[in-house]
Parts: sequence; structure tokens; C-alpha cells
Amino acid sequence: MKKFTKVLAILMVITMTACLFASCGANTGKEKSDSITITEGKLVMATNASFPPYEFVGDDGEFAGIDVEIAGLIAEKLGLELEIVDTEFGSIIGGVQGGKYDIGMAGMTVTEERKKSVNFSDSYATGVQAIIVPEGSDITSFDDFFNEDGSVKDIKIGVQQDTTGDIYVSDTVENGGVGADHVIQYKTGNDAVQALVAGKVNAVIIDNEPAKSYVASNEGLTILDAVYTEEHYAIAVNLDNAALLEAINNALAELTQEGKIAEVVGKYISD
Ligand code: ARG
Repeated sequence: MKKFTKVLAILMVITMTACLFASCGANTGKEKSDSITITEGKLVMATNASFPPYEFVGDDGEFAGIDVEIAGLIAEKLGLELEIVDTEFGSIIGGVQGGKYDIGMAGMTVTEERKKSVNFSDSYATGVQAIIVPEGSDITSFDDFFNEDGSVKDIKIGVQQDTTGDIYVSDTVENGGVGADHVIQYKTGNDAVQALVAGKVNAVIIDNEPAKSYVASNEGLTILDAVYTEEHYAIAVNLDNAALLEAINNALAELTQEGKIAEVVGKYISD
């Protein structure tokens, strides 16, 4: 009998050790999850928080803006905790594609080129490119970037690097731009606007709502007519993550129906 007990004890130790390595039992906390985000329970959003009213850092040091609030509402619907990473605009798509961030949300325009690298959610806002110039500038429209003979004047245009404004205006004259030689790229929209205030560039091309916001917070600037076609803003998701894309689109549809998207937009944009 004594021997039997001993064998039983040894057997139990063996089983327990084996279980430890094989993760026996229902809840080891390490079982393969069916999480639709990179880290279970979290929604990591990459943005470039120098783009008011879509994303900016408020006076209290917290992220704020339309995208920040909509992302918060989506996360809430999906039962996830929102984490925001502020990075260069040009590195957002690569980061989403490379599995570093769950989503990219940055007043980001859907383009055919970007669609090769990421999926886009349904669009939740639109924008157009606007021209900002100093008040009293000789430039009063896009046409004023050109001489009578169609050549580009001796001017410099500031843009935020890698944005659609940059892409369009840096293109050749034949393709509707002024050529890269006439463009100076800045890290943020605010840097481009500060260069304009300092007289380093003759104009800035940026999305219309941020343009309004920058003109309101910097003296002596004014906005000219919108240029180029309407753009659609959407959320970038990894090409392989169809489940997250669907969850986001469902959440967006619900939020739209509930009037929440309009509510957030109305809080920041009064037209
Ligand atoms: N809509 C433009 C684009 O997609 C500009 C977006 C810039 N966004 C930002 N958060 N800085 O290229």
C-alpha cells in the first residue's frame, strides 16, 4: 500500500510538470487568442497630431480632435482600450502594413497608391486642399503660381511631407503640380505654416479644415480657393486583417446612425 501511494505521488508530479509545459487546464492566460488587434484588449492608433481639428495635442497635453474622439468611440464599441502613437505622417502606412499599429487615423486620404499597402475603412469625412498665403500676397489663386507663358514663377510652396498636398503639388506642371523644385517639405503642417509666417515660403498647401485652424491661430494669414478634387478620409487597417476592418466599418455605421459622428464633427467644425 505504501509503495502504491509513492507511485501515485510520483505520477502526480510527472503529470503536473507535464501540464506546466503543455499549458493544461482551461485558463492559463496564454491560450491562443482570437484577438483582432495586435495586443489583446488594445487598439493602437498611429497618427500625426499636428493636424487640427482632426488630431492635435490640447492645452492639457492630451490628444484631442475629431479622429481621436471617433477612434475612442470605435474602441469603446469594440471593447478595446485606445492607445495613440504620435508619429511622422509618412511612417503611418508602413507601420500599419508592418503590424506595428492596428490602425492609422490621421485625416488620411484614400488613394489608389496607398490602397496597395493598406485597406481603408468606409470614409467618415472629406476634405480638399487649400492654399494659405500671407494677407495681401500677390498670389490670389492657384493660377498665380504660373507666369503668362505657363512656366512656374520663382516661388516656393510649403507642404507637409508625404501628404496628398505634397504629392499633388510636387508633380510636374503637365500633371497639375508645380514641380518638386518649387516645393519645400516640412515634417508637420504646423512647421510648414510657421515657415510661411517667417517668409520662407510663399504659400502652403494643406487640407482645408487644418488650413482654417492654422489661419485662426496665426495672424496675417488667409485662405484662397480650394484646389484639386474632394478627398475622402478613412482609417487604414492591415491588408490581412479583414476582421478588424469589418469590426471598424460596423462600428462606424452604428456611430453614424446614432448621430455620434456628426456630433463629434460638429464639436470641432462649425460651418
Ligand atoms: N489628407 C492628407 C493626406 O492624407 C493629409 C493628412 C495629414 N494628416 C496628419 N495627421 N498630419 O495625405
